Amino acid sequence: MRCASRSDELVFFVNGRKVMERNVDPEGTLLTFLRKNLRLTGTKYACGRGGCGACTVMVSKHDPVSRKIQRHFSVTACLMPICSLYGAAVTTVEGVGSIKTRLHPVQERIAKSHGTQCGFCTPGMVMSMYTLLRNHPQPSEEQLTEALGGNLCRCTGYRPILESGRTFCMESNSCQQKGTGKCCLDWGENDSSRLGKKNEICTKLFAKEEFQSLDPTQELIFPPELLRMAENPEKRTLTFYGERVTWISPGTLKDLLELKVKHPEAPLVVGNTSLGPAMKSQRQFHPVLLSPARISELSMVTKTSDGLTIGAGCSLAQTQDILAERIAELPEEKTQTYRALLKHLRSLAGQQIRNMASLGGHVISRHCCSDLNPVLAVSNATLNLISAEGTRQIPLNEHFLAGLASADLKPEEILESVHIPHSQKWEFVSAFRQAQCQQNALPHVNAGMRVLLKEGTDSIEDLSIAYGGVGAATISAHRSCQQLLGRRWNELMLDEACRLLLDEVSLPGSAPGGRVEFKRTLVVSFLFKFYLEVLQELKKLVKLFSVAVGADSRHRSEVSDQFLSALEDFPVTIPQGVQTYQNVDPHQPLQDPVGRPIMHLSALKHATGEAMFCDDIPVVDKELFMALVTSSRAHAKIISIDVSKALELPEVVDVITAEDIPGTNGAEGDKLLAVEEVTCVGQIICAVVAETDVQAKRATEKIEITYEDLEPVIFTIKDAIKHNSFLCPEKKLEQGNVEEAFEKVDQTIEGEVHVGGQEHFYMETQRVLVIPKTEDKELDIYVSTQDPAHVQKTVSSTLNIPINRITCHVKRVGGGFGGKVGKPAVFGAIAAVGAIKTGHPIRLVLDREDDMLITGGRHPLFGKYKVGFTNNGRIKALDIECYINGGCTLDDSELVTEFLILKLENAYKIRNLRFRGRACMTNLPSNTAFRGFGFPQGALVTESCITAVAAKCGLPPEKIREKNMYKTVDKTIYKQAFNPETLIRCWNECLDKSSFHSRRMQVEEFNKKNYWKKKGIAIIPMKFSVGFAATSYHQAAALVHIYTDGSVLVTHGGNELGQGIHTKMLQVASRELKIPMSCIHISETSTATVPNTIATAASVGADVNGRAVQNACQILLKRLEPIIKKHPEGTWENWIEAAFEQRISLSATGYFRGYKAFMDWEKGVGDPFPYYVYGAACSEVEIDCLTGAHKKIRTDIIMDACCSLNPAIDIGQIEGSFIQGMGLYTTEELKYSPEGILYSRSPDEYKIPTITDVPEEFNVSLLPSSQTPLTIYSSKGLGESGMFLGSSVFFAIADAVATVRRERDIAEDFMVQSPATPERVRMACADRFTKMIPRDDPETFKPWSIPIA
Ligand SMILES: Cc1cc2nc3c(=O)[nH]c(=O)nc-3n(C[C@H](O)[C@H](O)[C@H](O)COP(=O)(O)OP(=O)(O)OC[C@H]3O[C@@H](n4cnc5c(N)ncnc54)[C@H](O)[C@@H]3O)c2cc1C
Ligand code: FES
Ligand code: FES
Repeated sequence: MRCASRSDELVFFVNGRKVMERNVDPEGTLLTFLRKNLRLTGTKYACGRGGCGACTVMVSKHDPVSRKIQRHFSVTACLMPICSLYGAAVTTVEGVGSIKTRLHPVQERIAKSHGTQCGFCTPGMVMSMYTLLRNHPQPSEEQLTEALGGNLCRCTGYRPILESGRTFCMESNSCQQKGTGKCCLDWGENDSSRLGKKNEICTKLFAKEEFQSLDPTQELIFPPELLRMAENPEKRTLTFYGERVTWISPGTLKDLLELKVKHPEAPLVVGNTSLGPAMKSQRQFHPVLLSPARISELSMVTKTSDGLTIGAGCSLAQTQDILAERIAELPEEKTQTYRALLKHLRSLAGQQIRNMASLGGHVISRHCCSDLNPVLAVSNATLNLISAEGTRQIPLNEHFLAGLASADLKPEEILESVHIPHSQKWEFVSAFRQAQCQQNALPHVNAGMRVLLKEGTDSIEDLSIAYGGVGAATISAHRSCQQLLGRRWNELMLDEACRLLLDEVSLPGSAPGGRVEFKRTLVVSFLFKFYLEVLQELKKLVKLFSVAVGADSRHRSEVSDQFLSALEDFPVTIPQGVQTYQNVDPHQPLQDPVGRPIMHLSALKHATGEAMFCDDIPVVDKELFMALVTSSRAHAKIISIDVSKALELPEVVDVITAEDIPGTNGAEGDKLLAVEEVTCVGQIICAVVAETDVQAKRATEKIEITYEDLEPVIFTIKDAIKHNSFLCPEKKLEQGNVEEAFEKVDQTIEGEVHVGGQEHFYMETQRVLVIPKTEDKELDIYVSTQDPAHVQKTVSSTLNIPINRITCHVKRVGGGFGGKVGKPAVFGAIAAVGAIKTGHPIRLVLDREDDMLITGGRHPLFGKYKVGFTNNGRIKALDIECYINGGCTLDDSELVTEFLILKLENAYKIRNLRFRGRACMTNLPSNTAFRGFGFPQGALVTESCITAVAAKCGLPPEKIREKNMYKTVDKTIYKQAFNPETLIRCWNECLDKSSFHSRRMQVEEFNKKNYWKKKGIAIIPMKFSVGFAATSYHQAAALVHIYTDGSVLVTHGGNELGQGIHTKMLQVASRELKIPMSCIHISETSTATVPNTIATAASVGADVNGRAVQNACQILLKRLEPIIKKHPEGTWENWIEAAFEQRISLSATGYFRGYKAFMDWEKGVGDPFPYYVYGAACSEVEIDCLTGAHKKIRTDIIMDACCSLNPAIDIGQIEGSFIQGMGLYTTEELKYSPEGILYSRSPDEYKIPTITDVPEEFNVSLLPSSQTPLTIYSSKGLGESGMFLGSSVFFAIADAVATVRRERDIAEDFMVQSPATPERVRMACADRFTKMIPRDDPETFKPWSIPIA
């Protein structure tokens, strides 16, 4: 039991306030403490694994030795044990600044630079930037990128965030604040001058001159009390007792060593970045934790003549600094190892993790993917151990890394420091790693390599090679290295070394982590890189010493300039770019905000952490927590559910099963809670209700479910086709005579395309708070959803109470992307059952693992095509058959299939066409709506087909695209008429703005000169149909109240997901009512104010709701007209006062009866979409043929936004969706076990783009206005369309790979698989190394993962 009386007092500061806690739980984290105990909810939970940065805060500590504030450092609060904070000062986003008091420049700038959309990542971004500025008030751009590398954002595409940070990097930051006290939402006189001249193309989205300057003297000081504490450090051991765990923090090394004798099994918690995740996900449990945080001996650094000794307690960030310092001090030859370590440290995790993680923790954890251990192992590092008995040294060698007892620490020993020797002349050390993406990703394979050549020769005196990621621990290739001693450093040696290494570092086909052939290839590819590097160095030495190396002519030819490209890694660069849009009409009144780049309404609140998300709502009286129990079987009969052990746990209140549902349990085949049978791993079976979230979660593990497995079990599309397992009938569209056309063409090609699924990875996981009221069965539901009416309806049918008793509230949603259209209703309904059964409010917050497991995502797709064309590339016939993996229930799969088929033709006019689509039923979690709704997957098939035609005709793909594009007014395959003029404008403008043709030539030149690196370039056109294909979805309502003080409250049916819909609605209301935006307010979306709403999706949210708001405002203005006419000189407030006196209603409902969508699938004709968005994107990349890595060099996007309501928001949508699309097509890869279990359940395993993935040059232009009469002020909905333009990166990669294959005389038309991961790119660039590796017969082993597309 927790024992406050025995526990010491934990003392630390938060935002300048002292916290004294006796009753602290050692298992608790800083994040929980901030959010629950201190009610500081600006710090967000998004992953709980240190992988996303949403919970970033700043920690400051005083160093008694240097008598300075040890650097302020950013940390992830979700991994920071609360007890580790003794004597520290914590600053959270609330401590940085606030709307109510004073905004900090970081907060102001991120908001005004449009660096926030949903705002869920923003406090973390602010804290990373703030910490950087506390250490470096004028940072370099490299430091800025480094500081933000550990923060994920799923909405913005990062460009505006970097832009805001960059304003601190510049020279002049003098204060330009006007001090007018004017609301920044209002546009008044002179304001238009802020953003370029009228009616011109504008490139400025914010006015930097207005930003407050940074004044470091205004920051919170380090608390004097902590200073005194640090200077007279408490030497006494501090102990904190929890219910299950005791935290012991000794004050002296002696005490620590004695404690280690007493508790030999107790781990040392330093950064908790290894222990923390292990305790969470692998359910490790340690009753005693020892904290060496106060032991200064563990942070000592000693420079000796032969090397460097770094204290085990030094953080990886400190290690980075120490190494950099030493590199600057010593001659290059001595610092080879330090350089290799530093190279890896730069890409190891994000800044926050490097700040927390210790060198000792890293070494001792012996993670199989450790980046440092392979380098330390090859460079003969030694570990200095200490115990109560004394000290001793052990080598950090393969035996230690393998965990052999004889080479390991004894239980009572600890690691005091690591000694890393200097390198010497003729010695070369290098480090290699390849991960899914460049930064903040665990490596698939890494390596440390060292060779010592006999002085003055090229013969090997000593050689060490170690690999990570190819076994359970770091593996040393000791045997191979021994056999190569004495050999000369030449090609023959290289061949022999590859053979030996592949033999020694063998990886079974079923190895955990999969990617076996790729990993085998990397083993030898890295060696080849090392071989070349050493040759290069030797070349330099030869010049210096004219020694007898290189007699063999074979190696001299290898390092010809063409091959040097193998050597360089892609540098981390800071994106640059220009955003252009058209300024508003010169006659537009200055106060009218429509068409201007107005900041997101909540941006400042996002930046200060004051914006409330669902789980930020304070604890409600008698509130309970819910946790879900899910199926561990893919297809099975439920034999029994035993909840007794869960109910025995303290604080557990109840377990909710299907039997508790008073009304309808979902739909047939799609139950809310499983009954009798489960059809996927992750299906919800029951839910535990407890007094705390921790206890609810723990209790889920005590529920015993017995299953009986059922057949068949289907995961892949291939198997579904085999079993005829489909969710709905085939959808088909056809025009012309396909068969006949195939007869007449010059050539045909048949091919396959596989597109993987995608996880929404909205930063705010699914969450809901259900509050039952005491009267009339009423319920208030606060939920993170895109469709509150659907939640309301589902709860109503589940509880069997009328809809009118249920009110759903949505203040804002921390990202949706389609993932919060259907699923929140499931969680809302289950929580509501819990609330009704227990009579308590229920809070359900999914952790990231559960969210990813349960909710499904974008449908994986398998496409087959046959295309017939003339020799000059004119496509005459195209037949595409698509299958999507729908998972175990229908969800939106039928609609996705329909949209897929309707949109498959993209921008091309092909006379003879046949499109067929089917949704496969498999035993996987049900897939659902996702931005683009089938189009991003389907159009990839069409574009792949075009690329294949180009390859066959020997023409560039852009020629084939151009040749087959719609040119004149025409009809689509479903006979909807449209004019492609804007499409062609976008295409031509993109060709022009990107200087496509000259760059194509430059790319070719580059490729001729470089063998191991290749560039690729691609331009992709897009015709994207906006809206739902059903008439009932094209309606919206709004409710506008004017109060007697003249202030206006707007409510409408759209939900704020970060896309800025509320901002746009206020712009509309401001224009219509002719009053400033600051007089108008939107509080929330609620089913009580606007009923029967449509999901905010399909890019039309602002279109339809804007028209409804406009309608309501026009009704009100009409009522006011007589008064205004009578007193034209009056003010708005006067008119409202008068209207009230005259009993004129100041409240109006607006309604928009939208587009009449129609589609006859029998006949294959219809007018399903109100309009199209056109666009084009050109991307250029460079690939590393030896590792499969790529670098995005440049992207240019032209998008037809018509008359943008708000160019800043629209450009934000385009950039954000483009980057999300780029993730889909390059790095986001979901991995499933052969049993259908999703492995990728955290940001560690699933890589969404990070800040360093943004193209080096990223330009976005809104096409100067065209007109769309159907939408509000001729604007267009741009929420989804940018997603597909991300495929330009995919096709640029494919272009580079095709060049490689052409050059190497391998078939160009390889199977297209998305995402183009490093694995796929590397394996497609077949060479002597891919030929060398052993290949397994697929029949002989069970793979770690299975492809489901
Ligand atoms: C999001 C994230 C991303 C990451 N990315 C990478 C990456 O890209 N590459 C990579 O290589 N690693 C990566 N890591 C792993 C990280 O490097 C290690 O978790 C970290 O270095 C461990 O240090 P720590 O201080 O946090 O150890 P802790 O978790 O505190 O402790 C780990 C273990 O070390 C022991 N220990 C610690 N200090 C001592 C000592 N002085 N004497 C004896 N035993 C000791 C403890 O008893 C414990 O068993 C990542 C981790 C996270 C969370
Ligand atoms: S929530 Fe802490 S890093 Fe993601
Ligand atoms: S604004 Fe960054 S996650 Fe939404």
